[in-house]
Amino acid sequence: MEDTELIENEAQREAETAQDSHALYEIKMKFLGRTGKVTALLKNMREIEADKRPAFGKRVNDLRESLERKFALLEEKLKKRELERRLAAEEIDVTVPGRRFKPGALHPVTRVRDKLVDLFAGIGFEVFEGPEIEDQYYNFTALNTPEDHPARDMQDTFYLSNGFLLRTQTSAGQIRVMESRKPPIKIVSPGRVFRSDDDATHSPMFHQMEGLVVDRGITLCDLSGMLDEFARAMFTKETKTRLRPSYFPFTEPSVEVDVSCFSCGGKGCPLCKGTGWIEVLGAGMVNRKVLKNCGIDPDEYSGFAFGLGLERIAMLKYGINNIKLLTENDVRFLAQFKD
Ligand code: PHE
Repeated sequence: MEDTELIENEAQREAETAQDSHALYEIKMKFLGRTGKVTALLKNMREIEADKRPAFGKRVNDLRESLERKFALLEEKLKKRELERRLAAEEIDVTVPGRRFKPGALHPVTRVRDKLVDLFAGIGFEVFEGPEIEDQYYNFTALNTPEDHPARDMQDTFYLSNGFLLRTQTSAGQIRVMESRKPPIKIVSPGRVFRSDDDATHSPMFHQMEGLVVDRGITLCDLSGMLDEFARAMFTKETKTRLRPSYFPFTEPSVEVDVSCFSCGGKGCPLCKGTGWIEVLGAGMVNRKVLKNCGIDPDEYSGFAFGLGLERIAMLKYGINNIKLLTENDVRFLAQFKD
């Protein structure tokens, strides 16, 4: 009988030291669990005189009930405290300003490329992409620029081992297309090119877009008409083009193409250096030798080709004065090209 009182006091004391509901549960098991102290009392029943057993049994049951109530009360208190703590820890201040997501902007060179691809796709050109690592044959020889030809000096080439090189011009792609397809051919080919050249308007890596049309009866007039279309779409509706004689080994005749200054309309300003015209690309009729190199009969077919620098167009169009701005990835610069 005394044991029950001792156990009750002990349980009470221990339960009150519990810091959380888990610790309380452990204590509860120590007394009321299957191997707990209260349960152990009942196992002693046999040692008690028969006439005292009912009273003892009742006493142990009362103890069990009383402890269960106490534990339940304490557990409720602890659980409440734990919930309050958790809620306090997880509180969200809905008045804190959110993190801003700054929308990105397309790079000016990407914009120019997309615009050109759209424009040419709209008049029936397919897009062809050639490799950036080329060999001498595609970049020079097949383009009528044999070894020791002085025109190889027009472009400072990055040579790799085993006769490979970083292409200096997307014109290399002309050969790949003409080799693998029969006319009619009508492609544009945007991509990176590489030249050992470095100043405010030249960068060792830049982008070009090549255009090539080969079919029966193609003339310089077709090139000229298409260039007018290009100039109006790329710059302003009033923009005109002008062809000046030039030289490229893979075109004959070759031309340098100017557009009327879209900044001053041709009167003369700093952008066009007072001339009213701005040079934008090189072009010409595909050289008969180049057609022959690709297995196309120059007596049956003719074609024109053109190549333009995307950085140059972007710089002119957006008034960018240093090509380095295009590769520095300064967000203050890039953010200015949002629509
Ligand atoms: N490949 C020439 C260059 O990089 C441009 C060009 C292309 C000229 C096609 C004529 C025809 O300078």
